[in-house]
Amino acid sequence: MKNFISVNDVPDINALVAKALAYKQNPFADRTLGADKRIGLLFLNPSLRTRLSTQVAAKNLGMEAIVFNVDKEGWALEFEEGAIMSGNTVEHVKDAAPILGQYFDILCIRTFPSLKNREDDYSELVMNSFVQYAGVPIISLESATLHPLQSLTDILTIKETFAASHKPKIVLTWAPHVKPLPQCVANSFAQWVNSWGEADFVITHPEHYELSEQYTKGATINTNQNDALKDADFVYVKNWSTYNDYGKIYSNDPAWMLTEDKIKLTNNAKVMHCLPVRRNVELSDEILDSANSLVTKQAGNRVWAAQAVISEILSGL
Ligand code: CP
Repeated sequence: MKNFISVNDVPDINALVAKALAYKQNPFADRTLGADKRIGLLFLNPSLRTRLSTQVAAKNLGMEAIVFNVDKEGWALEFEEGAIMSGNTVEHVKDAAPILGQYFDILCIRTFPSLKNREDDYSELVMNSFVQYAGVPIISLESATLHPLQSLTDILTIKETFAASHKPKIVLTWAPHVKPLPQCVANSFAQWVNSWGEADFVITHPEHYELSEQYTKGATINTNQNDALKDADFVYVKNWSTYNDYGKIYSNDPAWMLTEDKIKLTNNAKVMHCLPVRRNVELSDEILDSANSLVTKQAGNRVWAAQAVISEILSGL
């Protein structure tokens, strides 16, 4: 694996999940694999789980991890080709990225979308610029449109939890939120579950919250949440803003919040969320604090997903 930007970088999802689960059993199995190697974690946006789980994963592999909060501590970066930099940006990514590539063996980037211009966000200019100019492998810690480390974690959490012999029914449901959020987690989850191909996959959302078909193709879309939830083994709860009329909140119907009553429609489904979660807006306390909730286990598994990815990249250096 050269870079880890999307599921398209992964030749075999099940093999990568198996590797992650093996690290969960034996975190220090490859404790010297990353000896004398350095990983840089660049944050253009906030994080709790991604930042810390990636640091722990790197440490388990013997790497030194250095975090740089570019948004707060760095020069404002310019990404536009040919920009006349007479405004607020101070340093072009063409100049900064190759330098970072000399300091680090692997570079990880987190960047969020603007949610103002869909074409700009979906062009993935920030992530692609680092891939183009850094000269070292790049790991996405979430980009403008995707969150692959989260999705790998989600598949491995489903695989380690599901014991029945039938195909799991997985439902991705939109949930209300107070702010317009990126589509990254939902896009990425859909992309990974569709590529994995070992689930009956349903996406449910109110009208106007259609995601890009490039990620959802292969899933069943149902705008009736109660209908979609029937017999679900896993319910993945996530808010996203509109894709078509980009970055908007059209309705915030509280009836879309997942509650105990809705779990009764499912096959006693396990409930997932990437976190952070707005309690009693996206998900009720009764669900989050119940035995159905996988959110803590899921967030814990971020370490093993990150460790498997870093290990794969280290093996190719
Ligand atoms: N799920 C997730 O990416 O969490 P953070 O934003 O805290 O990293």
